Amino acid sequence: MRRAVCPGSFDPVTNGHLDVFARAAKLADEVIIVVAINKNKSGTFSIEERMEMLREVVQPYPNVRVDSFMGLLVDYCKANEVQAIVKGLRAVTDFDYELQMAQMNYRLTGIETLFVSTNPIYSYLSSSLIKEVANFGGDINGLLPGPVQERLLARVAEAKK
Ligand code: PNS
Repeated sequence: MRRAVCPGSFDPVTNGHLDVFARAAKLADEVIIVVAINKNKSGTFSIEERMEMLREVVQPYPNVRVDSFMGLLVDYCKANEVQAIVKGLRAVTDFDYELQMAQMNYRLTGIETLFVSTNPIYSYLSSSLIKEVANFGGDINGLLPGPVQERLLARVAEAKK
């Protein structure tokens, strides 16, 4: 069985992430979307909320499931018999950091990282930019999966009460 992970913070998952998951699902027998738990960062959504939203949006893909991890990604991959990390590359600005992580991860355990080129219609998207636009009342239609957009707008409204 060829198993891959798509790691990230996913705070929250965007349409750009979803495009990468769909493409990874065609490359591997099983894809695990893994939410990194970072004790030093609280985030807009809790880890459980992020996982709930991810589970909802990956429902159409039977070979995709959702999990979380704390610590090194390579340790998670070893423990779960994962052969590859799949990441989306949006633009050249992602490249330095992503290459650095891929090389470090390869050095640590020999795991391969596969990059998929993000669909150009999503290449400018990031969770933090979408949250900033939403916070200031800008139009975020089409940037997030429907249920995620609803939850983000509700979270923004709650914070303004
Ligand atoms: O969505 P993000 O925040 O850009 O994802 C970054 C993430 C979670 C993939 C990266 O920070 C990570 O793998 N963290 C786990 C800790 C780890 O393995 N660090 C060494 C990376 S070489």
